Amino acid sequence: MEQTVYHIPALLEQSIEGLDIKPGGTYVDVTFGGGGHSRAILSRLNAAGRLVGMDQDMDAWANRLQDDRFTFAHGNFAFLKNFLRYYGISGVDGIIADLGVSFHHFDALDRGFTFRGDAPLDMRMNRSASFTAKDLVNGYDEQRLAQVLYLYGELKASRRLASAIVKARPLATTGDLVNVVRPLLKPAQEKKELSMVFQALRIEVNGELNALRKLLSQSLEVLNPGGRLVVITYHSLEDRLVKNFMRSGNVEGKQEKDFYGRVNTPWRVVTGKVIVPSDDEVERNPRSRSAKLRVAELIAQQGRADQ
Ligand SMILES: C[S@@+](CC[C@H](N)C(=O)[O-])C[C@H]1O[C@@H](n2cnc3c(N)ncnc32)[C@H](O)[C@@H]1O
Repeated sequence: MEQTVYHIPALLEQSIEGLDIKPGGTYVDVTFGGGGHSRAILSRLNAAGRLVGMDQDMDAWANRLQDDRFTFAHGNFAFLKNFLRYYGISGVDGIIADLGVSFHHFDALDRGFTFRGDAPLDMRMNRSASFTAKDLVNGYDEQRLAQVLYLYGELKASRRLASAIVKARPLATTGDLVNVVRPLLKPAQEKKELSMVFQALRIEVNGELNALRKLLSQSLEVLNPGGRLVVITYHSLEDRLVKNFMRSGNVEGKQEKDFYGRVNTPWRVVTGKVIVPSDDEVERNPRSRSAKLRVAELIAQQGRADQ
């Protein structure tokens, strides 16, 4: 069998710099995966420092760091606050989230995340969750399916794709799905569009946007004053959510202004302009190409940001 790495972290240096690590601080990596970001954090902590690595996929547990300062938490970051409370942590100095799936998900062909190979339509990051891609493609009505494909896959042919899927039901495997959608894709764009179909279904199966909204709101409750929020996104909707949240302090992105027209926000945005991988990094790690990094610092007292 081909030897694969679990993951290669994107924007590693820039995101760790964004955390502005205090050696004795407490940090949480809510998307532990292969532990690339976590290892870099741990190497900057002293004996008093602490790191929690969270992942909803139990496969990541095999990569846990053998270090007394490290705790692995199996769970969804939508419940970050409860997890930290469970581990007796009242506040953290930094949160890092490197969203989406790991290389492992694409490389483990049996989990249904990729159109390479033929596997049951699964796509769950958390294998104890009950809702699978099979439930989605066989259970959603045509309009809802089209919406998922359009919103999360940015597929112009979303309506035609949804209609073809509904007509061909029931579908059981990724191969069944590919056979139905392939004739509707432009041959020159086939691979790209198949990836977008799979991405869209995966985002819906795992409730990724909702989990992100919950994580962002809870960051305000669990970060210590001066703490940093570091988020790497791979999809325009995620990035917009993070950008608006860091500007306004709420997931709706509603900006409240004071008498002078200055925005009331709990954040100081550290990355004025979004950070993306260099050409060099994309060449070394092509899967990093859509990564976008944003960093914000929780202001000690609710303050104002000039916009
Ligand atoms: C892009 S990978 C992170 C890779 C990691 N930074 C590294 O260096 O190896 C994303 C990871 O986050 C996990 N994940 C995604 N959404 C999650 C959620 N809502 N809660 C917990 N873990 C999640 C996935 O299972 C995956 O392992």
